[in-house]
Amino acid sequence: MRLIVVSNRVACPKGDEPVEGGLAAALVPAVRTSGAIWVGSSRKPTSAAEKEGFAQMEPLGRGAVVTIGIPSEQFSGFYEGFANSALWPAFHSRTDLISTNVEHYVSYREVNALIARPLLRLTRPDAMFWVHDYHFLTMASELRKLGIVQPIGFFFHTPFPSRDIILSLPHHSELIQAMLNYDLIGFQTDADLENFADYLRQELNLTGNANVFTTNQGSTRLACFPIGIDVEQFAEQAVTSASQPEAARLRSCLQGSKLVIGVDRVDYSKGLLNRLRAFDQLLQCHPEWKRAVTFLQIGVPSRGKIPVYRQLQREVASLVGDINGRHSEVDWIPIRYLNRGFSRASLAGFYRAAHVGLVTSLNDGMNLVAKEYVAAQNPLDPGVLVLSRFTGAAKQLDAALVVNPHDIDGVSRAVVQALGMPAKERRERWDAMMETLKSSSLDMWFSDFVSNLAECPRAERCAWTPDVASTPVRSRQLELTAIP
Ligand code: F6P
Repeated sequence: MRLIVVSNRVACPKGDEPVEGGLAAALVPAVRTSGAIWVGSSRKPTSAAEKEGFAQMEPLGRGAVVTIGIPSEQFSGFYEGFANSALWPAFHSRTDLISTNVEHYVSYREVNALIARPLLRLTRPDAMFWVHDYHFLTMASELRKLGIVQPIGFFFHTPFPSRDIILSLPHHSELIQAMLNYDLIGFQTDADLENFADYLRQELNLTGNANVFTTNQGSTRLACFPIGIDVEQFAEQAVTSASQPEAARLRSCLQGSKLVIGVDRVDYSKGLLNRLRAFDQLLQCHPEWKRAVTFLQIGVPSRGKIPVYRQLQREVASLVGDINGRHSEVDWIPIRYLNRGFSRASLAGFYRAAHVGLVTSLNDGMNLVAKEYVAAQNPLDPGVLVLSRFTGAAKQLDAALVVNPHDIDGVSRAVVQALGMPAKERRERWDAMMETLKSSSLDMWFSDFVSNLAECPRAERCAWTPDVASTPVRSRQLELTAIP
């Protein structure tokens, strides 16, 4: 069987290089061991003339990574435009931040079509396609248009919000109808699945039976597959990294103070400002913790061409400066803010050194940082995870201190509780979380999805064309609006 995995961001890391993004970091080991072919965009400026070519094919363990060049102007409308200024805010319930236009939507549809075409060269009769994330909602309809009858699955790494939020998304009906060309759609949580099913029932008048929705173009099954991590590998990495100079330097500069750690892309969904305010509150209300605690926040720059992300970068830097200015002493700084990415090996060592892992996402599909923090702990003296209830991870890791990230006092109190938690309680909570992580690992996520996909029929699907959308802005929009 040949598995073809598709995601916007791919990675073929050399040695210890940082891998950007939770999705790519999770797929690297899965592709290495499964032998899948992993296809994504090259993210390098490409001219229109080169657009149909494979930019590169590189081996990755037993598998391979194929990158496809996308002309720059289309990539920007697709990535900064429709994907990250319409879909991302909508899926993270920030309808106030939706900012897009029909040009962006056209680019989005074109890039889906453009990545679909070279996939034909990789397919075989026994192939299966697994498409990842909100960048490629219409990929299956493009593949069906090209005659692909093999099973095509899709996995939502983001949340899928309630119907009234999706209604704010331009072109929502076309997009969701196009998704019915997938045989299997996977979600992180039951709530995400329920929201999607509710949309199908209420907006498209479909009736599902045991989460299978059948239209005249075939059947689509919805199922929940919470993504995991390679627990043993990450735990071993943490032991190794803890003895490396970088982690040793971190521990020695703490001078006996306890460490709280946060690691995120600088994204409004991560609740960074709330987190910093909660830490500020802690220092104001509990002066006994001054000099006795340090907060290390790693903020990986993200989507810097989008104004709302640049604005957030400035706000985070300014709030860190403000808090440090008010609380620092000549020989102590409360917040160390590192505005760059680190390799997973380095992060594993930092997590192990930290007494508290702090995750305050306002909305997050899963949040693998929470899982990695737990896996990296010393079993005899584990740290405590303070975890937002609005993450997929909180549905599984209920032995964490689960918080409402909008409740600044509550988060601050939870961090104080975590800092003072007795070893016995820390061990009990950690044991419970490790058991959950081991029973829902990355391997299981991958093989569970793939075996469910393999059960889907390989039958020709009827073409199905929803209403043509808005007035064409460019001639090529006409051919794109018809979704088979
Ligand atoms: O679905 C979320 C996700 O794909 C994550 O896996 C990842 O952290 C992030 O989005 C990557 O975003 P980008 O590719 O825009 O940096």
